[in-house]
Amino acid sequence: MARRRRIYEGKAKVLFEGPEPGTIVQYFKDDATAFNAQKKGVISGKGVLNNRISEYIMLKLGEIGIATHFVRRLNMREQLVHEVEIIPIEVVVRNIAAGSISKRLGIEEGTPLPRSIVEFYYKSDALEDPMVSEEHITAFGWANPQDIDDIIALALRVNDFLSGLFLGVGIRLVDFKLEFGRWYDDQDNMRIVVADEVTPDSCRLWDIKTNEKLDKDRFRRDMGGVEEAYQEVARRLGILPEAGPQDLKGTKSIN
Ligand code: TMP
Ligand code: ASP
Repeated sequence: MARRRRIYEGKAKVLFEGPEPGTIVQYFKDDATAFNAQKKGVISGKGVLNNRISEYIMLKLGEIGIATHFVRRLNMREQLVHEVEIIPIEVVVRNIAAGSISKRLGIEEGTPLPRSIVEFYYKSDALEDPMVSEEHITAFGWANPQDIDDIIALALRVNDFLSGLFLGVGIRLVDFKLEFGRWYDDQDNMRIVVADEVTPDSCRLWDIKTNEKLDKDRFRRDMGGVEEAYQEVARRLGILPEAGPQDLKGTKSIN
């Protein structure tokens, strides 16, 4: 097979030039990092599961009219997406206190928040993704006020929809992170779309009955049972790979 041009390698994914102009191939690795890559590890089978889980969620979002970068899944570890201009902001939506908000504001983990809270972080490994406000985003030109209004509205729609979707399979959506991109169509019209991934790497997912963590916090906090947690999310969503857990390795070859 012809060697593809590698565009970018991130912590959990590799991006390749896609087969048609304006497309990108997202390859999902098993690599996991936490605390700005100070902690590194491998979650066996994660790439295969995250490829499936993100496909499933992006398709569901599409069904309710939320535009995403997703085109189609190509194989066990790869999906085709539209090439977008990533807005350099991580958008976090929180329903229940956990992680950094608990630490920063001294709120016990598990406390329901008075309402869903949207936060912005500037995407910069060198600066360890500092929290920023709308003022910073507009002043530095990362997005304009209209973009921010659209992003907040989209993030809250995604939150409502995914909260219901996960609730239906016995999972509480505690919080999650989204990234958005600017997608230009053939007529050069710009649309803000959900990009990157939506997976247990980027969400906090707790079992509704036991509060058991079914997400990357198991890796961040050395809790064990990491692979099983990702499999459980896929199983509940009804999307374990056809052959079942024995098929989770998938091909590792990156061309
Ligand atoms: P936080 O509590 O550490 O700020 O994380 C909030 C949510 O964002 C949580 O669901 C995990 C996700 N997240 C990422 O996807 N990438 C990151 O780099 C960080 C820090 C959090
Ligand atoms: N993946 C992020 C990093 O290593 C952090 C996290 O998800 O906790 O920077």
